[in-house]
Order: sequence, then C-alpha cells, then structure tokens
Amino acid sequence: MGAGEELTRAALAGGLTGGMFTPERYHFHPVLDSTNREAMALAQAGAPEGTVVVADGQTRGRGRLGREWESPRGENLYVSMVLRPAMPVSHAARLTLVAGLATVEAVAAMGVEGARLKWPNDVLVAGRKLAGILTEMAADGMRIRHVTVGVGVNVNGRAAAFSPQVAARAVTMADILHRSCDRGVLLAALLAGLERWYGLYAQEGFAPVRRAWKEWALLEGQQARIDTPAGVQEVWLEDLDAEGFLLVRSQDGERMRVLAGDVVLF
Ligand code: BTN
Repeated sequence: MGAGEELTRAALAGGLTGGMFTPERYHFHPVLDSTNREAMALAQAGAPEGTVVVADGQTRGRGRLGREWESPRGENLYVSMVLRPAMPVSHAARLTLVAGLATVEAVAAMGVEGARLKWPNDVLVAGRKLAGILTEMAADGMRIRHVTVGVGVNVNGRAAAFSPQVAARAVTMADILHRSCDRGVLLAALLAGLERWYGLYAQEGFAPVRRAWKEWALLEGQQARIDTPAGVQEVWLEDLDAEGFLLVRSQDGERMRVLAGDVVLF
C-alpha cells in the first residue's frame, strides 16, 4: 500500500458509508497544492455535495487570513468537503462552527483529552493549536453556490518540526498521546460527525449546534485580544450568540458582537 493510502482504506470502511459522503465522491491525492483549492475547483465544475478531497501532503496549504498551513507529507490530515447548503450567505460562517464541532469530537474520540474550541475556527489543547478550519464560499448575490470546508489536523508529526513560528503555538496528536494515530480512522470519525451535525443543523437549525459547540468552547472568563476590522482590543469573552457570532465585553464594560476577526487568548 502506497504512502497515504491507509487514509483512504479506513475512511472508506468507516466514514464514507452514509448518505452524504460516498466512495464515488472521494478524491485522494498523494500531493496537492491545497485540498481547499481543489475542492473549490471541483465544486465550480459541478461536483455534488459530499465531495471529499484528501491529500497526503500539501505544497500551498491555506490557512485563515491569508496564512500558510504547513502541510508535510505523510503525517497529518488535510481534507476538504464540498457542501451545497440551502442557506443565505450570511449564515455560511456557522459551517465553520459545525466543522469545528465534528473535529473536536473526532480528536477526542481518538483519545485526546482537553481539546477545546476557540472561536471561530481553532481546536486547541492547553492553548496550542491542534487543528484549524478554513471555510471558503462561492455565491451569486445572496445565494450560496457552494462552500468548501477544509480541515487540517496535526496528527503524527511533532510540533517541534514545524517552522519556529508555528512550532511555538502548535501541538500534534502524537505530542499528546506519545503514539502515532491512524489518520484514516480520524478521517472516518470526522466525516461521520460532520454529516451528523450538518444534518441536524439542516433539520433543527443552529440551536443544537450552538449548545454543543459551547460545551467544548473556551468562552466565559477568558481574556483575549481581538483583532477585528474595527481595530485591536483587549476583551473578556462572554458567549456565542444565537447567530454564531462572538459576544465579548470590553475593558470599559461595553458589550460587543464580533462578526469576524482573530482572537488571541491570554
Ligand atoms: C487555519 O486555522 O488557519 C485554517 C487551516 C486550514 C487548513 C486546512 S488543511 C486542508 C484544507 N486545505 C487547505 O489548503 N487548507 C485547509
């Protein structure tokens, strides 16, 4: 079995058996520039909801806010899913929260303790980043054409092997568990969780997702620096609102709703 193919074998056995993610919609590549770029291109060309793109390594992995996602080959999980949700453009950011929930549950199911969600897109363990989510969208005016949800999980490499800047704030499952993990089993759990939470959201709306997300989240009592289009501020985190936005309180007691931006916890 070639490098990375174990990813496909376990995923086919576990996570691609449901209604949404199926073997015909599964695309594995030994190396891609970015699974998100590839998934967006497939979606643009008409690929159905449930299309999954996995790579064993990425040469230009994309992170949020134009950052690079370091993606060495053979070690970690790099996966992007195509969704075609019947929802307005203004709700698309909630899909990042849906994917975060599926991701944190999947890493916990693999034995990682202490994993937490940080709004909007991070999975942290003891303040270090274990996984990140990048949601990209194409729309016609107010109507979503398609969304690509990309998930990167640091699995079997060592954080110390990343560039110094990333190494200082990253962690891997192997760092935590002191053993290597089967990326295919992790992928299967992630896909099963995403199908479940995405389905629940479609049926019951955002409330159940919000409830579960908050149980995993670093929120009340957390002090943070937020970097938003309106500027940088030190705040206390308070809540996730019913729309999926972050509620914070500023130093002078003003309550604010953060629609987009970067949050650094103290
Ligand atoms: C972030 O935390 O900044 C988001 C990181 C998202 C990385 C994943 S890896 C799979 C998918 N393909 C990409 O190019 N990016 C996402």
